[in-house]
Formats: sequence, C-alpha cells, structure tokens
Amino acid sequence: MLNSTLQPLSILALHGPNLNLLGQREPGIYGSLTLAEINRLLEEEGFKLQAKVFPLQSNHEGILVDTIHEALGQHQGILINAGAYTHTSVALRDAIAAVNLPTVEVHLSNIYRREDFRHHSYIAPVAIGQISGFGVQSYLLGLQALVNHLRKNET
Ligand code: DQA
Repeated sequence: MLNSTLQPLSILALHGPNLNLLGQREPGIYGSLTLAEINRLLEEEGFKLQAKVFPLQSNHEGILVDTIHEALGQHQGILINAGAYTHTSVALRDAIAAVNLPTVEVHLSNIYRREDFRHHSYIAPVAIGQISGFGVQSYLLGLQALVNHLRKNET
C-alpha cells in the first residue's frame, strides 16, 4: 500500500565502467542479470518506496563527474556502483563531496573478499554507507537505505 502523503523522491542510480557488460561479464562474480534487468528491479523497488529511479551507466569518468554535478537540483540522492573507479577516482569522490547529496555506495561482489586493490574505496568516506557482496540485493538494499535516510531527514 502506498502512502499518499509522501512526496515522491528522485534518485540517480549511477553505474560505472564495464557494468554495461553485466550478464556476460564474469557471471561467477557478478551474476547473470543484465544491467537493464537490474535497472528494472531498481525502478520497481523505487515505485514501492515512492521514489523515481533515474539510471545512467558510463565507462567515462568525466561523464560520471558531469552527471553527479547535474544531479544537484534534480535528484535528492545518489545510488552508485562506481565499478573500478571506486578504487581509483579522487575525481568521483570530490564530485560527490561537492554536490553534498546523500549517496549510498553499492557493489555486487564483496570487494573485501577479493584482490587487495579492491579493498580501498575512495567513495566510502563521502557516502552515508556502503553495501557490498549481495549481488542485485546490494542495489535494492542500498536504495531502501537511501530512501529511509532521505525520509528521516524530511521536515
Ligand atoms: C564492482 C567491484 C569493483 O571492484 C569492480 O571493478 C567492478 C564491479 C562490484 O559491483 O562488485 O567493476 O563494483
């Protein structure tokens, strides 16, 4: 049952490099769902939570930075799987800090059970939280957590 008194929220769902290949990319690690299927599940979960999800994937760091800047005034929060940029990108970290929108970091795989270079996230210190290791559930749990956070801070 939807609560009709809630203002709909707008959430940017950002997917970083190589996530366009989900479904065929290392399915033993990332699962068999395609990015389109993950986005559909996110949109369905968002509908239940009265949040409209706007997905965008890019392999280009600058496009991700631009999209984060453009989120200001358009979206209330950001759900991000920055892919490999998680472990390398000061620019993405700074963009999130600059717009200061509540951001939840998600990963399909458990980055702490993998290679050492995946154990550090530049995004984590500017995110309200991180969910890693639950496959597509990481995204859905991340969206729930983000919406809960935003609703709690609504006046
Ligand atoms: C990932 C983990 C990253 O280390 C990797 O570079 C990815 C996907 C994940 O969702 O598990 O591209 O973010």
